[in-house]
Amino acid sequence: MRHLMNPLDFTTGELDSLFDLANDIEKNPSKYAHACEGKKLATCFYEPSTRTRLSFESAMLSLGGQVIGFSDAGSSSASKGESVADTIRVISCFADICAMRHPKEGAPMVAAERSGIPVINAGDGGHQHPTQTLTDLLTIRSLKGRLGNFTIGLCGDLKFGRTVHSLINALVRYPNIHFYFISPPELRVPDYITDMLKEKKIVYKEVIRLEECMPMLDLLYMTRVQRERFFNEEDYVRLKDFYILNTPKMAMAKKDMLVLHPLPRVNEISVEVDDDPRAVYFKQVQYGVYVRMALILTLLEIQV
Ligand code: CP
Repeated sequence: MRHLMNPLDFTTGELDSLFDLANDIEKNPSKYAHACEGKKLATCFYEPSTRTRLSFESAMLSLGGQVIGFSDAGSSSASKGESVADTIRVISCFADICAMRHPKEGAPMVAAERSGIPVINAGDGGHQHPTQTLTDLLTIRSLKGRLGNFTIGLCGDLKFGRTVHSLINALVRYPNIHFYFISPPELRVPDYITDMLKEKKIVYKEVIRLEECMPMLDLLYMTRVQRERFFNEEDYVRLKDFYILNTPKMAMAKKDMLVLHPLPRVNEISVEVDDDPRAVYFKQVQYGVYVRMALILTLLEIQV
């Protein structure tokens, strides 16, 4: 039995197969419409979510399966003190596969160790968000035609942003990728990541202003400053509007640069940018459903 805790749990070869499957699902959805008949997905979300939870549910329903779960720890027996380890043993009696989001780093891993069914980490604290990374990689591969040989800027909250940490870890396995880390000093990418990049001799540059690197980028990955990860409101208020991607900044970028964002967005991308064909963050959401369909089939070892 296989779980997904970290994007690195899959080799790049396995990821290629997963993305080929996702692209086939995109082209031939009816072929997969009954693939999970009789199977159930449990979504155990101890932290709020719109995209991840609903795209998992949409994915399972599109495969002909069924969905159970909770979207709020307060409505589960966690509110009575039940441990994640006990909850997953119970869920294993009800479902065939589980997607779990938890505010504590490592909680889905604890669940996986006790589980009788595959567990997918749907985001654990500031640590990892592997299915968002699969979504990001599929979006890049589908729209750019390659994974590798590009310059990517990651902008915003690079300190607490689990999507950023997961994506950097996944991208370093591909050739000739250069990174720009665009953040205020307080939200710069953690040292363990820059140490890893130095060790692998991967080129990166840290800058404070978007304008310093905009013309060089093939991809810009915007992120939200996350109120829920700050220890005090004052720091959040000071930093929340540090970056706002708008039309004048987009005018500095390459004609084929793509803007991604894991969403939700707050103020960091002006709505006027949504009409720019280079803004692909809503397409990215759709790729998230295809890749989760492919992941469910892969972990349940269902071949179509
Ligand atoms: N991108 C993402 O994880 O969004 P949700 O928090 O809405 O699931």
